[in-house]
Amino acid sequence: MSDKPLLLQLGNFTQRMEDSLSPHFAIHKLMQAPDRAALLAEVGGSVTAACTDGHWGIPDDVFDACPNLKAVSSYGVGYDAIDTDRAVERGILVGHTPSVLNQEVATTAILMWLAVRRNLIPDEAWARSGQWEKDGNAPLSRSVQGTTVGILGLGRIGLEIARLVEAFGAKVAYSTRSKKEVGYPYYASALELAQAVDTMIVITPGGAETRHLVNKAVLDALGPEGTLLNISRGSVVDEDALVAALADGRLGSAALDVFEAEPKIPDALKTMSNVVLTPHVGSATVETRDAMGDLVCDNLIEWLKSGKMKTPVPECKHL
Ligand code: 8YV
Repeated sequence: MSDKPLLLQLGNFTQRMEDSLSPHFAIHKLMQAPDRAALLAEVGGSVTAACTDGHWGIPDDVFDACPNLKAVSSYGVGYDAIDTDRAVERGILVGHTPSVLNQEVATTAILMWLAVRRNLIPDEAWARSGQWEKDGNAPLSRSVQGTTVGILGLGRIGLEIARLVEAFGAKVAYSTRSKKEVGYPYYASALELAQAVDTMIVITPGGAETRHLVNKAVLDALGPEGTLLNISRGSVVDEDALVAALADGRLGSAALDVFEAEPKIPDALKTMSNVVLTPHVGSATVETRDAMGDLVCDNLIEWLKSGKMKTPVPECKHL
């Protein structure tokens, strides 16, 4: 066995990350292993570090098979797929990649907001399919300027979305657990926010606390002219209620980058022309993924040197 510390890799990473980590760690790729249980049985006892992403997190079989795991570095800002209570109990330091993706995710949110409100996808199909020649002009879309955008979860990314939304002449309102020192109108609940806005952008963290925060009542409050945009975690929105609200015309439109059972998307959504669908690409550009990957590696290499990480998750800051 190698004399380098053993790193368990969950998920797929870039060549740049592999190049950066391989001088320091002996890397074992769990997802590529022909027999996952056999790999865990073989190397689990010697694994001290793991890298993962927001989708895979750290599953129970990895926690169980790696009693000496001491560091987890996650590729993404959201870490709801990692049981941090269990990590803290075991003294495992968990790091993530905040801040470096704020602008990219905010840009993707704006891209989706404009696409859904201004009918980009149906208009593109209208042009491409020859319908313009056959049927004349496409139906009118709706302006974003003068509308109100409600941001559910005004953290680092939410603030960046707010800044960009204002540049389009739209107003911003928000809802978070506790009121922030910002000038935007505050609503104590998702329901009250939905009642006050034209578009709701969901950018709150995932996990048990926010599960189905956007439910039937919230969707009904957005209403037949309203738009729901989700760029955080699929779990925050009750997807069955969303499909029903769109099908009944109780909700006007939706733009969705995240889903409850990714990569599965409910078939009903795929047939709706008032819905924009993207495959969890909020931060997915070469530049931003490089920055995130660099931080994943920096956290692991720093941990090797000093036992600390540059960007630990808040629950682990004391470790
Ligand atoms: C990644 C994300 O797509 O940062 C996050 O929380 O959701 C994304 O940037 C994810 O970590 C990859 O699964």
